Amino acid sequence: MDTFECIRKRRDIRSFLLKDVPDDVIMKIIEAGRLAPSAMNLQPWNFIVIKNKETLKELGPLCLSGRFIVDAFFAVVVVTDHSNKWHEIDGTRAVQNMALAAWNEGIGCCWIGAINRDKVKEMLSIPENLHILTILPFGYPEEFTVKRKKNRKKPEEVVHWEKFGE
Ligand SMILES: Cc1cc2nc3c(=O)[nH]c(=O)nc-3n(C[C@H](O)[C@H](O)[C@H](O)COP(=O)(O)O)c2cc1C
Repeated sequence: MDTFECIRKRRDIRSFLLKDVPDDVIMKIIEAGRLAPSAMNLQPWNFIVIKNKETLKELGPLCLSGRFIVDAFFAVVVVTDHSNKWHEIDGTRAVQNMALAAWNEGIGCCWIGAINRDKVKEMLSIPENLHILTILPFGYPEEFTVKRKKNRKKPEEVVHWEKFGE
């Protein structure tokens, strides 16, 4: 898919089809995250891939604003090192790379922000000193979620030429 088309059409997906994602496609998506640029190339991230249905089910109630994780084919827990000042920016660039690489494969995901981080850390043996940036549930999207209208501010509201307000 053309890069701009991928950016233009991508939606955040919260409803998934019961369709398996092959492991090589999962690995390609993770690879897109691993290849992201980062401040001083420090790569302050780890990616935990979760395919196990029971684990996804257990994560459901801990993903407070993303209970739809229970219907995902897999999820990626993005863990960053918050001793690095740029960890959120770097981690987010990895997330966007994964989201676009996934869309290119016909797969959707969605950032989950409200998470019971302490419980998830304990459940997945994530070291105390690391931070859960987000959890991304992935899967092939239900058709209607792809077709929703994309709602964004108009260019004239957010784009300025040469000076703010112009
Ligand atoms: C930092 C961040 C946090 C988000 N948190 C959540 C969340 O907790 N739950 C959720 O369902 N969507 C979450 N989203 C998804 C946004 O609601 C979504 O990107 C926005 O509505 C645009 O969606 P669209 O690209 O499908 O139009 C989050 C997105 C971002 C970038």
